[in-house]
Amino acid sequence: MVQKLPWWNGAVIYQLIVRSYADGNGDGIGDLQGLASRLPYLRWLGVEAIWLTPIYPSPLQDGGYDITDFKAIHPDLGDLSAFHRVLTAAHGQGMKVVMDLVMNHTSTLHPWFQRARWAPQGSPERDIYVWSDDPHRYADAPVLFRHFESSNWEWDEVAGQYYLHRFLRHQPDLNYDNPLVQEAMLDVVDFWIERGVDGFRLDAVPFLYEAEGTRCEGLPETHAFLKRLRDRVDSHGRDVLLLGEAIQPLDEIAPYLMTDELHGAFNFALTAHLFAAIASGAVEGLRNCLSEAQEAVHGCRWALPLRNHDELWLGDGHLVPEDVIQTIRAGLHQGQGHWLNWGINRRLAPLLNGDSGSNRVLHALLYSLPGMPCLYYGDELGMGDWPGLRDRDPNRTPMAWTPARNGGFSTAPDPLLVLPPITSPGYDYRVVNVEVQKQLPASLLNWHRRMLTCRRLLPALRHGDFELLHCTHPSVISYVRCDGGMTVLVAANLSAAGASLRLDLSRWRGERTREVLWGCEYPPASDSWFVYLPAHGFSWWLIGEVEDVEGVEDVRDAEDVRQPS
Ligand code: NOJ
Repeated sequence: MVQKLPWWNGAVIYQLIVRSYADGNGDGIGDLQGLASRLPYLRWLGVEAIWLTPIYPSPLQDGGYDITDFKAIHPDLGDLSAFHRVLTAAHGQGMKVVMDLVMNHTSTLHPWFQRARWAPQGSPERDIYVWSDDPHRYADAPVLFRHFESSNWEWDEVAGQYYLHRFLRHQPDLNYDNPLVQEAMLDVVDFWIERGVDGFRLDAVPFLYEAEGTRCEGLPETHAFLKRLRDRVDSHGRDVLLLGEAIQPLDEIAPYLMTDELHGAFNFALTAHLFAAIASGAVEGLRNCLSEAQEAVHGCRWALPLRNHDELWLGDGHLVPEDVIQTIRAGLHQGQGHWLNWGINRRLAPLLNGDSGSNRVLHALLYSLPGMPCLYYGDELGMGDWPGLRDRDPNRTPMAWTPARNGGFSTAPDPLLVLPPITSPGYDYRVVNVEVQKQLPASLLNWHRRMLTCRRLLPALRHGDFELLHCTHPSVISYVRCDGGMTVLVAANLSAAGASLRLDLSRWRGERTREVLWGCEYPPASDSWFVYLPAHGFSWWLIGEVEDVEGVEDVRDAEDVRQPS
């Protein structure tokens, strides 16, 4: 009997910020009504799930990751009924909805914190958070937001004690030693599952517990709580994704996945290696990272982002070695002053100096590697950023829909807009937008759509086994994905110079090879199969006759690229 895979296995996830995506009521702020109206676009693009960055009530001192009520919607964005409408509409169009869930901390304005600071020391109410008389406790825990904070502790006048905050001082850490906290968060998870959500992106998941003499990351107690969380989610009896955000190296993340805790986790080490490969034109580090990831966790459980709403997190040498960080810093286009905390505060397109070839080859890898590719809103267009805005806002500006005023994001007067739409040279919304790119068959947007169509039709790319092939060219990475009778061969050239290479395809000797995107026939597979890849070129090839796979023969005619939604 064929085992039914959970929906997230190999699913393409599109990350968006509701307040920056589409404004439905004309007040200058994106909202759920606006998002609902854009779901047909996402369906057209071919994503399978949308991940919403936090939509809860919040004073927005950290883009909504500072929550004041875990069971409500921020009034700027709508209400629970509007959320229900988005959820049902997304489901009706075959897409899943994943919510951000911040379990590690709240806002200081959360009623729990306000009660805690007034409650007597040692009372259960006070113990909802982590307090200390000594700001040097847990001194081995690094300060993560080092551009904003110099300590993980903040003095609270009312409480007469310091409280722990691994992120901003407005975000006190919850105390998971307190059973009330554990129950409250499990209850939040029940709440949203009962409302129909399909998964959670678990923010900052390694930091739930603290212990002296450690970095306070991924402690055994954290794993034990996550197991409880998983049991609770499983008790609902349907597939609800638990996707962990952990900025640690692979061997520290694997334990979340090897046991019955999380279903998936972001692979930020791979993200860094992808950027290092494009920055240097050398793929050895990328190859090693891929082998390590597959060895650590076999299959498609890694979520693969290029960019997201944060800086491109490279860490302090803990996530990837210092030389990888230096390669990225030296080779990527950063401009002045884009280093924030432990990473580069730029969107994908400007980081790649606007080069659409680099965007394509990186996504060609993302869409063909084992895992869940994550596409950040606007990167399908090559949208730019607005350097100079505060914190990570440069990467969070309004989506560009049309060449009309405000990029079609909102009808509100400019001063009311949540953030300014991009008008910088090369990225102006009058040129870089959905409407224009839909009309241009060779646009980046139509390319992404075509790639996603092909991926959908090729189960080997979605959940097939993965094997790296030997390739002597230092700039080319090559691998196969195999599922049942289907084999897809991938080769990608990460350098800005053309590359000719020979691959040993003796295992498939004599079999037919066809390039997937355009259906071109290549010479039959052989032990010295020659191929030329232009600068930043890549190809996906089908090997063999591929029978019984519905739709595969139609891949190249899969769509009229100009069809509107
Ligand atoms: C990780 C989120 O991605 C980031 O945006 C946020 O600031 C921190 N967690 C704190 O919640």
